[in-house]
Amino acid sequence: MFSGLVTKINLTYHQSSIRSEGGGNASVFQYYRYRIAPRPVELDVIKYFESRYKKIKAAKQEMEYFINEQTISTALILKGTATNLRIIPRESVDYIYTDPPYGAKIPYLDLSVMWNAWLDLEVSEEDYQQEAIEGGEHDKSKDEYNKLIAQSIKEMYRVLKFDRWLSFVFAHKDPEFWHLIIDTAESCGFEYVGAVPQKNGQPSFKKHQNPFTVLSGQLIINFRKVRNPRAIMKANLGMDISEIVMQTIEGIIAKNDGATLEQINDELIIKGLELGFLDLLKKEYSDLTPILLGSFDYDDKAEKFSIRKNTKFKTSIDVRLRIKYYLISYLRRMERENKYPHFDNIILEILPLLKNGITPENQTVLNVLESIAERVGQDSWRLKRNGQQKLFD
Ligand SMILES: C[S@@+](CC[C@H](N)C(=O)[O-])C[C@H]1O[C@@H](n2cnc3c(N)ncnc32)[C@H](O)[C@@H]1O
Repeated sequence: MFSGLVTKINLTYHQSSIRSEGGGNASVFQYYRYRIAPRPVELDVIKYFESRYKKIKAAKQEMEYFINEQTISTALILKGTATNLRIIPRESVDYIYTDPPYGAKIPYLDLSVMWNAWLDLEVSEEDYQQEAIEGGEHDKSKDEYNKLIAQSIKEMYRVLKFDRWLSFVFAHKDPEFWHLIIDTAESCGFEYVGAVPQKNGQPSFKKHQNPFTVLSGQLIINFRKVRNPRAIMKANLGMDISEIVMQTIEGIIAKNDGATLEQINDELIIKGLELGFLDLLKKEYSDLTPILLGSFDYDDKAEKFSIRKNTKFKTSIDVRLRIKYYLISYLRRMERENKYPHFDNIILEILPLLKNGITPENQTVLNVLESIAERVGQDSWRLKRNGQQKLFD
């Protein structure tokens, strides 16, 4: 409660112009740096202490079922670095949920000075050495960040039991970071299971200021440690990377009747990950803004991209190739979930994605399907074992 209050009772507290007196924030949360407020305000300490107290009490009550006297007596809270978990024996952990820093986004250790001082926490040079970050006061390189993240993934692999899961929360616009995570996780022996977007309740102040450069929300990538991991295969889609990117963006816009920057980014990362083209993406598509603003309409109010008025999709790609792309991506997802969809379900999935172009006959979809997939049982389908896909180069 006290350290939470430090957020409000200090000279960097910036009052909000729209919210109530206590609805502002310390500059660290607003601007990711220390800055004395141009008009500092003094809040009533007791009033905000009481309000914190009520919130903490409600939170404790909500968690009581999971965290209570018995669980507390066995819990162990350690300060340390994820790059060295030697205190934890190998194959002893049931589940890992980790939320590492996202590259250069926030210099956590620099920004936590005020709280560390308040809590009497010592921050050593070693802590700075081990902090996974790009930039910051210590001006660390991307390469240093990559090495620390890779080392922590290795440690997580070591301590996790077999057949258990690692959930990795991540957000970044640059596909290079995603590629690093997937590559390292796979080379350690993790198997990719799937990725799901996780939205934040409220878009941050930064997001409002820079709608095209700041992403809100993250993806949770799930991995499993298994004895014979399957690597993600690189799909042979018959398109070049610029066509794949356009195809992916158009697909998500068609499916949702307009899509936010986050939806487009998430979709590209997930497709890149599942179809094995993240490495291509990272070379040329670290910033989507020029493509999006150059080819689509943007609605400020809805914060969504859509197809330019009175135009069909830009894509000049043959409809059969477009069908193939969506089929491979859908059937791969189904296969990871051990599902073999019926033809009707396939049609229901594929057609909405193509609705702004030439709508194909079911027969066309069936022809493409037959070229890349095979029947299992009555009318269920799965991708052919070989032919349309090859292993990662
Ligand atoms: C995205 S934040 C996690 C925020 C957390 N989920 C929360 O809600 O408070 C990433 C955190 O990783 C920490 N971190 C950076 N390098 C680390 C390392 N080598 N070992 C462990 N934690 C590290 C940062 O200090 C920061 O607190």
